[in-house]
Amino acid sequence: MKQTIDWRSHWTRKTPGFHEGQVNAYLEKFLPLFDLAPGDTIFMPLCGKAVDILWLSQQGYRVIGVELSEVAVLSFFEESSIEFVKVQQENFSVYKAKNITLYQGDFMHIQAQHLADCKLVYDRASIVAIEPFNRQSYKHKMLQIIPAAIPMLMVTLEYDQDIMQGPPFSVPASEISALYHPQYSAHFLQSNEQSTEGSRWRERGLQSLIESALRLNAK
Ligand SMILES: C[S@@+](CC[C@H](N)C(=O)[O-])C[C@H]1O[C@@H](n2cnc3c(N)ncnc32)[C@H](O)[C@@H]1O
Repeated sequence: MKQTIDWRSHWTRKTPGFHEGQVNAYLEKFLPLFDLAPGDTIFMPLCGKAVDILWLSQQGYRVIGVELSEVAVLSFFEESSIEFVKVQQENFSVYKAKNITLYQGDFMHIQAQHLADCKLVYDRASIVAIEPFNRQSYKHKMLQIIPAAIPMLMVTLEYDQDIMQGPPFSVPASEISALYHPQYSAHFLQSNEQSTEGSRWRERGLQSLIESALRLNAK
């Protein structure tokens, strides 16, 4: 996957704009829909240092994440006050704690064996971080590496891309539905139109944006 975005430059600040700094409200609300059991594993592609990683592990789940930036991974452990061990594996530095494994490296190098036990993919602000010309490759890779039939919880953004350029890119729910068709069916869960007043988005010209949650079920 050819990348044009320099993600390391986003991580020169320890807390980039996309970091929510709290548990994602859709994750908290919709996780029970997936009937997971304590000890089940959740995969978070392009996980950043999301507080969601910590929260999910505190709920008794195992979390596997992949993230390009070492700054992000180290900040996650530092800010969560969690001890880890670091091991080197082929294409990754792997950071392991009790219920958390973070692969620091490129998502495109993840293999199915890394995710053999996963029961859910939780994608918040990950598909929107992928350049439009890479979305098909991202989807193909995702379907190669996750166990067949596991569902996904996706949180996406939609806005007028004539006004603002990504990342994050605008990826409407309809596009996610088309992208994952025919292997998955997408079910709309909830949308929320947010004013951008006083936010970093307003500085980029945007008046509002829509955040949506989707459930994807394997067909
Ligand atoms: C918009 S952020 C979202 C982070 C996280 N999901 C969250 O909710 O805070 C996208 C993240 O993807 C990471 N990233 C971009 N391309 C990647 C790749 N090919 N492999 C792994 N991580 C990648 C970036 O470093 C960045 O931290």
